[in-house]
Amino acid sequence: MARALRALSSAYVERRSRLDEGTALSGAGKRAAFALFYGPMHFLIVSEIVRRLPAVIPAGATLVDLGCGTGAAGAAWAAAGSSTVRVVGVDRHPWAVSEAGWTYRQFRLDGRARRGDVAAFALPRGRSALVAAFTLNELPEGVRETMLPRLLDRARHGDAVLIVEPIAKAVAPWWSRWRVEFERAGGRSDEWRFRVPLPPLAAKLDHAAGLDHRELTARSLWLGGPSKP
Ligand SMILES: C[S@@+](CC[C@H](N)C(=O)[O-])C[C@H]1O[C@@H](n2cnc3c(N)ncnc32)[C@H](O)[C@@H]1O
Repeated sequence: MARALRALSSAYVERRSRLDEGTALSGAGKRAAFALFYGPMHFLIVSEIVRRLPAVIPAGATLVDLGCGTGAAGAAWAAAGSSTVRVVGVDRHPWAVSEAGWTYRQFRLDGRARRGDVAAFALPRGRSALVAAFTLNELPEGVRETMLPRLLDRARHGDAVLIVEPIAKAVAPWWSRWRVEFERAGGRSDEWRFRVPLPPLAAKLDHAAGLDHRELTARSLWLGGPSKP
């Protein structure tokens, strides 16, 4: 498993150019490493971020998790709120869709994951909260750029939008431009560093694979939605 985790980490860091071919989740070993390690990491990171941001999911909103993977980000955000929300996860990978369904059931969320491309996914007509965690950097640039005006437009109409990405500049060279657009629209950007105890299995894998996640880091863009009282 440590070897699979190293292979997956290298796919995210050194062989990034092939991510849009879906290489990260190709192979049972890498999928298991994602489910056991990166899923829980992303859950922790998004939980910490939404706890610190001054905004809440709009009442009665559907939470859409774009590129939901195992469902970690949507589950983290939905579980952090006080009201019940409906969660819709979308991912192009069939394995991710089935894992996300499992995650929603474990958290007793009213959630459903669907197979689809985030760029073509029809967002709900009603009030929504949209999260894209560690996903936009996997999209080809042209596709990602079509997402920016769509997300800004939804926020302008009252939806909440949360984007989370790794801090490493090489991962998201487009970040500063998106940050300017979000801030211009009244949103905010943050860089986060958390010292959170890892679940025992994740800590063991971290160590065995020669990684070091004692400090979790991420950056986020936030826009729209009501503010916390
Ligand atoms: C690094 S994972 C992040 C998963 C999840 N958001 C999380 O925080 O753990 C990126 C996910 O985006 C999905 N993805 C990449 N490109 C996509 C696309 N064009 N449409 C739908 N899903 C996509 C991948 O299949 C993968 O599950």
